[in-house]
Amino acid sequence: METIADLVIHNGTVVSADTTYAASIAIKDGVIIAIGNAKTMPSAKETLDANGLHLLPGAIDDHVHFRDPGYPHKEDFASGTLAAAFGGVTTIFDMPNTLPTVDSGEVLAAKLEMAAQKAHVDFGLYAVLGATSIERVPELVDVGAIGFKLYMGNTFGRIPSPSTGEMLEGFEAVAPTGKRISLHAETNSIMERREGKLRAAGYSAALDHLAARPEVVAIEAVARAAILAEWTGARINILHISSAGELRPLREAKARGVDITGETCPHYLMLSSEDYARCSGVIRVNPPVREARNQEPLWAALLDGTIDVIATDHAPHSQEEKTRNDIWTVDAGFLGVEIQMPLMLTEIARGRASICDYVRWSAVNPAKIWGLYPRKGVLQVGADADIAIVDLKRNWTIKDTELHSTSKISPWDGRKVQGLPIHTIVRGRFVVKDRTLQAGTRGWGRSVHSIQNMPKPVPLNVDQTTAAVLQKTFHQASA
Ligand code: NCD
Ligand code: ZN
Ligand code: ZN
Repeated sequence: METIADLVIHNGTVVSADTTYAASIAIKDGVIIAIGNAKTMPSAKETLDANGLHLLPGAIDDHVHFRDPGYPHKEDFASGTLAAAFGGVTTIFDMPNTLPTVDSGEVLAAKLEMAAQKAHVDFGLYAVLGATSIERVPELVDVGAIGFKLYMGNTFGRIPSPSTGEMLEGFEAVAPTGKRISLHAETNSIMERREGKLRAAGYSAALDHLAARPEVVAIEAVARAAILAEWTGARINILHISSAGELRPLREAKARGVDITGETCPHYLMLSSEDYARCSGVIRVNPPVREARNQEPLWAALLDGTIDVIATDHAPHSQEEKTRNDIWTVDAGFLGVEIQMPLMLTEIARGRASICDYVRWSAVNPAKIWGLYPRKGVLQVGADADIAIVDLKRNWTIKDTELHSTSKISPWDGRKVQGLPIHTIVRGRFVVKDRTLQAGTRGWGRSVHSIQNMPKPVPLNVDQTTAAVLQKTFHQASA
């Protein structure tokens, strides 16, 4: 019997991590069933003419804060995933600093159910790894956490940062599960002490936020996390790399064979301390946007593979929360999920890197490090049809008020960009078509934990974990 595709896209340029080529793509039941010459395509219920457009694997933004449940005035899962879809992002991973904190199977199950009702794109949900959740690691994995998030330093939500002892025990607990632990790598004791002194001395300007969190805050945290990962065999991912200095401990750990990956975000590549005067507290984010001299090393680290992933740390807040006069009371973070692709493509158009590099950082690598490849992150036969269909020539200006997030304030307002996703397809279905939301797509997104397939875990020093040592003592005591 002749196969009839649900959708065939003609005349577009397909982008992979290695090359770009003209091809048609046929989709059936959410999956790509053919890529090639138009003449070889099956007949289709629907066709799309993508003449002049590029077909990219939908971006996987593995670091967003959609604030649901807990802070609907900032964002919720519907508005956040809608913004994602308009930004060519087809999978997001949501962070666990929602209310209540995602630290038990029960809370995670409720959040998974909520997200499934509202999501316009696919998603993964993080669970927190902290003192109180260590013993719940197996339960959180069973219920469907995509990975773990550990806050080495305080940030929005004020989830307590574990001591190094608690961290080691947490890594010991996660290592045998094979899941990856993403780290907010800023050492709390350094920055809290310094912030206290700055505040006591009366400093409260936007740039004092940077003064409270010098580069060493992050460098020390990355190095310490890498040592614990090396000892336990836990897989880790360094979030929001903001400085040149973090690259050395990251490179050295990679060279030692530690399973460590790294992420940076557009604001560390494109904004600098020179933007504080223009943006005031709006630019406040953890870790801080730093001196311009960090930008070149971060780009170089992306190009040489030291940094693996571009994500956004989309962290929306309200107008009032971002515009307070005292910098210490301004909520840290700002929106990003909808504009990551245009911001990055603008730099690609300027010759910073190739569009293949971009696809590697935004789709291929996150899919690989989270065990979703090749189901996601690549346009090839058998993969989910998650596609961002992009006009690389389109010039436009970011206006915060026109973005789809509930939050309407960011340091990007007024920035000129080149490149706009025109259509976004999630598992074969248009969520956005001709820049228009398609009806009935709320609730189409689903959790990717069910397809996550991490490589076999390699826990190390298992005879010396807290659990193993306790066990041994028990046997000796009772012998
Ligand atoms: C994030 C938030 O608001 O949830 N804020 C931020 O400044 N990045 C938390 C975080 O990722 O640190
Ligand atoms: Zn963080
Ligand atoms: Zn974050």
